Amino acid sequence: MFETLPLLPADPILGLSIAYAKDTNPLKVDLGVGVYKNDAGVTPIMAAVAAAEKVRIQQETSKAYTPPAGYPGANEACTKLVFGAGHPAVETNRVRTIQTPGGCGALRVAAELIQRAKRGASLWVSTPTWANHIPLLGSAGLTLKEYPYYDYETHSINFAAMLETLKQIPRGDLVLLHACCHNPSGADLSREQWNQIADLCEANGLIPFVDMAYQGFGEGLEEDTYGLRLLSSRLPEVIIAISFSKNFGLYRERAGALSFVFANEAQANAGNSQLLSVTRALYSMPPAHGAALIDIILHSDELTKVWSDELTLMRERIAGLRVNLVKSLNQLQTQRDFSFIANERGMFSFLGLSVEQVHKLKNDYSIYMTDTSRISVAGLTAEKLDYVSSAIVSVL
Ligand code: LMR
Repeated sequence: MFETLPLLPADPILGLSIAYAKDTNPLKVDLGVGVYKNDAGVTPIMAAVAAAEKVRIQQETSKAYTPPAGYPGANEACTKLVFGAGHPAVETNRVRTIQTPGGCGALRVAAELIQRAKRGASLWVSTPTWANHIPLLGSAGLTLKEYPYYDYETHSINFAAMLETLKQIPRGDLVLLHACCHNPSGADLSREQWNQIADLCEANGLIPFVDMAYQGFGEGLEEDTYGLRLLSSRLPEVIIAISFSKNFGLYRERAGALSFVFANEAQANAGNSQLLSVTRALYSMPPAHGAALIDIILHSDELTKVWSDELTLMRERIAGLRVNLVKSLNQLQTQRDFSFIANERGMFSFLGLSVEQVHKLKNDYSIYMTDTSRISVAGLTAEKLDYVSSAIVSVL
């Protein structure tokens, strides 16, 4: 039966980590997968997470199933983290949040629910978008369409073209937006641009589907939710897929959540029952460990502070690396201005290199990044910065 299945190439992002691990060059640098690293090149267990794990080991008395939506305490805390206190959609009991296996699980469950409501619904994604959005959402059966977003020439959002395309799309279509730290470009919408998108969605009956994988890595925990809170306060229906992989450093625990804003309370109850029937058919219930840690941290003022302080340091470290990389690149050459990297946010930026140049960096210098020349800035260290910038300049 399976002899018809051909061998597939490695995943364009995760495959890089495997190739990097096998590389024996002591100078190797991993700018591939979006995983935070400290200046020693290590992805640390955050202090609040380590403390919460101790509490959990003491508190957990059973491995019986969790409720289908996950821990109620974690869902309530996540809702507050994402929507803030007193958000009108939450106050009117129109929001339902469930835990999911990571942000990927949230995206996929949302796609399955959309399919139940409207088979083959059109979902508009930015060009470019996270490489895995396409298989993850497309294989659920949604019809994926594209709106222009990042302009590689100006290294910024082509907002006029984005708006122009979104103005043409039919009522009831969905628009995938990155809450902050746009992956892969690092170019984020301004508040004014979010306001215009909210106006357009309201006027034209579009449904925003917001992917938030980096809350706290852009401008701050509150600031990064500006767009989604605005949309959720103005529109009847909004979908929000949340990942805790990066901001709690819980990558392998597969901790995520999915929040739906529904038009009214009755639809929220019906929608929630459908969500749980989707997840039952896919995986029954979400993984417990990561969500339990988030529950413990967000219900302790002390641990919340430890966590958000560490997250601030992580964000600031990446911002500092961006500035230093630009300095170093602009000092070594004058043919290209890399200043845009310092203005972008989150883990990623495009260097603007060709596939050949990217492959040369990998083959000659053991510097890994996706073929699109997306770099995960957090993979840089102070020690390796000059090595990386000299290598980049040598392939220009
Ligand atoms: C990335 O874009 O590198 C991260 O979101 C990790 C992943 O799963 O692709």
